[in-house]
Amino acid sequence: MSASPYDLVIRGGTVGTAGGTYPADVAVKGETIVAIGQGLPAGVREIDASGKLVLPGGIDTHTHIEQVSAGGLLNADTFESATTSAAFGGNTTVVSFAAQHRGLDLRKVVDDYAKLADRGALIDYAFHMIVANPDQKTIETDLPALIREGHASIKVFMTYDLIKVDDEPLLDVLLTARENRALVCVHAENHGMISWMGKRLVKKGYVQPKYHAISHPRGSEAEAFTRLIALSALIDQPIMIFHVSTAEGAQVIRDARAQGLKVFAETCPQYLFMTKHDLDKPGMEGAKWMCSPPPRDAADQEALWRALALGDLQTVTSDHAPYRFDETGKLSAGPNANFKQIANGLPGLEVRLPLMFDAMVSKGRPEFDGRGLEAFVNLTATQPAQIYNLPKKGQIAPGFDADIAIWEPKKQVTITDAAMHDLTGFTPFAGTTVTGWPVTVIRRGSEVVSDGQLVAKAGSGRWLKRTGGWAAEPTGRLTSDMDPATNFGARIL
Ligand code: URP
Ligand code: ZN
Ligand code: ZN
Repeated sequence: MSASPYDLVIRGGTVGTAGGTYPADVAVKGETIVAIGQGLPAGVREIDASGKLVLPGGIDTHTHIEQVSAGGLLNADTFESATTSAAFGGNTTVVSFAAQHRGLDLRKVVDDYAKLADRGALIDYAFHMIVANPDQKTIETDLPALIREGHASIKVFMTYDLIKVDDEPLLDVLLTARENRALVCVHAENHGMISWMGKRLVKKGYVQPKYHAISHPRGSEAEAFTRLIALSALIDQPIMIFHVSTAEGAQVIRDARAQGLKVFAETCPQYLFMTKHDLDKPGMEGAKWMCSPPPRDAADQEALWRALALGDLQTVTSDHAPYRFDETGKLSAGPNANFKQIANGLPGLEVRLPLMFDAMVSKGRPEFDGRGLEAFVNLTATQPAQIYNLPKKGQIAPGFDADIAIWEPKKQVTITDAAMHDLTGFTPFAGTTVTGWPVTVIRRGSEVVSDGQLVAKAGSGRWLKRTGGWAAEPTGRLTSDMDPATNFGARIL
């Protein structure tokens, strides 16, 4: 008798991909998917997936883990707790941040976060490098070297007093990214509008969490998107616009993409399922719903769903930013802090996929025209892998990593604070009942979660070396401002 050709066969399930859904067994050898088909030979191990969906493991490309915030506060999660939570929510890869602050050396920052992740992560990971100190060494030495070493994305904030990067240094970052082939991700809001509104509101005594939403005017998003897109177009550098929250913002992105600009964008469950009214709670409770940009209105939710269906937005991420509702987190400035003193961000790693699955697959959002499952896979796994050039990730296909989430599509779960595996202590989605939950999660052929039980060890996740890839390639269409033929022969780039 010959030995089995497969280490693992996931048998009898329905495979869901971005391109279609079909019944099939999936065979794994080592860390890799090697065959897909019906009636595959027995594997050394078998998982019965009958009645279940076999989907690519989720990829969450916007997560703040073990990170020091814009306000200098260390968030609640470790790589171990955050990636445990991510795995229970069906994810097999996260991209988090190596966050430079003013005065910090970027290489040391990346090394420090890499050590934390190496020790703690249970699923695979990569980093976006936050640049908040765009000095000559960062721009000319550290960024090019770190990009070459495999950290192929940068993040910049256009707001937050302590880390914002103004237009001129932002152009330096964009040009360095262009020369070295990295994608630039941006938190784009108009800093002056937010700062001015915040000061006026606080001065007049409007200090409760709900005024946080008012302090980020809708137009602050569209204005910053428009300016950012002009900056990136000047030097033909692709960008990813993080956490789109308004209809107007989505429209700016649609217009830019229609011109052929390489503008990518994401939104998050908080903008699809919450509104600014969620912040309007007695006392400080509303702080649990405070994130930036803030949740908006029901009409924005509808516009964002349309933008997802049209392809204007290509990924849905959690923007997991875990601050506890106590003196170590949201209430670090005291129990009566004004909204400007409260850390922005909310947890979401574990519920991103179930919330999206429930809306797109179980409830069948009409925008996706009967192809909600395919669109769900595309937005939460396949396109994130392609845009961020995560090698061999995001698809169920031979040659790809065996990163697989097995879903029970009819399992009903009511989300509670106590059920979450991160260290935030609450979830703003508590009380929501969803249909569909991932019960077994496999990373590179090994179970991380097996029938709802954690079986992987801290440190078993692996850093993913990324080169720029297609999304980070310039279009090759420079604006006339950069064309020597139209600017008296000047060679600016
Ligand atoms: O409110 C948020 N989103 N906090 C996390 C940091 C950021 O802005 O991405
Ligand atoms: Zn942000
Ligand atoms: Zn964020």
